Amino acid sequence: MKISPARVAAFEILGKIEREKAFSSVLLPLYEENLESKNRALCHELTLGVLRRQIYLDKIIESFSNNKKLDLTVRIALRLGIYQLLFLDKIPDYSAINESVNLIQFAKKTSAKGFVNAVLRRVLREKIELKFADKVERISVETSFPRWLIENWIKQFGVEETKKLARANNETPPLVFRLTNKTDEQTLEILNKIGLEITESEFVPHAFHVSKPNELLFAFAQKGKIYFQEESSQLVGQAVNLQKGESFLDVCCAPGSKLSQIANQSAENNFMVGGDLYKHRLRVVSEILEKTGAKNVNILAYNALDSLPFAERSFDVVLVDAPCSGTGTIRHNPEIRYFLTEKDFAELSAKQLKILKNASKVLKTGGRLIYSTCSLEKQENEMVCEKFLVDNSNYDKVLPELPKRFLTEKGFARTFPSRDNMDGFFIAMFEKKN
Ligand SMILES: C[S@@+](CC[C@H](N)C(=O)[O-])C[C@H]1O[C@@H](n2cnc3c(N)ncnc32)[C@H](O)[C@@H]1O
Repeated sequence: MKISPARVAAFEILGKIEREKAFSSVLLPLYEENLESKNRALCHELTLGVLRRQIYLDKIIESFSNNKKLDLTVRIALRLGIYQLLFLDKIPDYSAINESVNLIQFAKKTSAKGFVNAVLRRVLREKIELKFADKVERISVETSFPRWLIENWIKQFGVEETKKLARANNETPPLVFRLTNKTDEQTLEILNKIGLEITESEFVPHAFHVSKPNELLFAFAQKGKIYFQEESSQLVGQAVNLQKGESFLDVCCAPGSKLSQIANQSAENNFMVGGDLYKHRLRVVSEILEKTGAKNVNILAYNALDSLPFAERSFDVVLVDAPCSGTGTIRHNPEIRYFLTEKDFAELSAKQLKILKNASKVLKTGGRLIYSTCSLEKQENEMVCEKFLVDNSNYDKVLPELPKRFLTEKGFARTFPSRDNMDGFFIAMFEKKN
């Protein structure tokens, strides 16, 4: 039996994501390293495509298999087959069907081969008519977001915005990088010369969109000349706006995207510290800092849920880029939607508030405290900040210095995949009065 390496890789990755709650962003590079470029692209497309359509694909499987209880491997082979039949024009139908049957054989589930073949042939031949209990279920299935999450978004943003948000969250995000040395014109020239279209961000200085992935681009990233970082993530560094001589603490700094950005873009005489709970994640931070040429940064491990290991009023600027649900980054991590549960938001917001309060203690009078998340949820954003202000009357909320389009009526900043074609970030800024 000849079997496509791209499909085997996608089949195994999807299995691991579901069984082990693994992340596609971690597994894809590991598998793709061993694939040649054509297979790499197909593996990528199949894995992310299935994750972005999973609830929809499952609803089709349900309707064509009379709600039969299915083994996970059979379900994944069917998801892959149906995804190719319905969404990938360039793959011939016979190939989509045969390859899924081969995957079943590969997984040693030979007795299910006939079943998989029959379901896929029905999907190919028959009209797909799905029934929905109500309009919320329709949105949930058509966009493949769990019903509870759609309901939660409807409560926060209304039905129409939720539809837009859910659809935008299934789009492939643009590839964005920053120059680690902001005056490095030569790197841009080389990338332009090899035919890559590089466009400067309209809103984030030093951020560039690139038309397509390319080996040289990855080689430049490897050497630390460029760093792949989402525009909205870079916006946090922009809001921090570290001035010459100011001391800075990044309370939750790993893997170091914002810390290295701020260090790369600040003057050399800034005293900077980055901390995180996990030592292994701090090793990644060290590597990134070194690779990108960031200087004057000290890193250490601590638990920010306890008091921080610094004297009170030590820093001019403190950033809390808090651990969060990550619902703003679903374009990059489509599986997050299946891992989260309703109660996570309440647990996270309690943790975020605790970390923010601990962080505020080490800020000097007159200093700036920045709170950010890559979550779309008000519970993790506005509500955390409002509770913080109630308990800390010595802080004023100030508007982050960012383009007007990102500023909200309540005095915070937000980005939305649906409105800005950026991941969904939240940024708040406070000033310590005394
Ligand atoms: C959103 S990420 C930070 C991303 C980082 N600022 C960047 O730009 O690369 C949140 C971080 O908080 C860390 N974290 C979670 N709980 C923590 C705790 N109790 N104390 C300190 N750090 C914690 C996680 O390890 C994670 O690295």
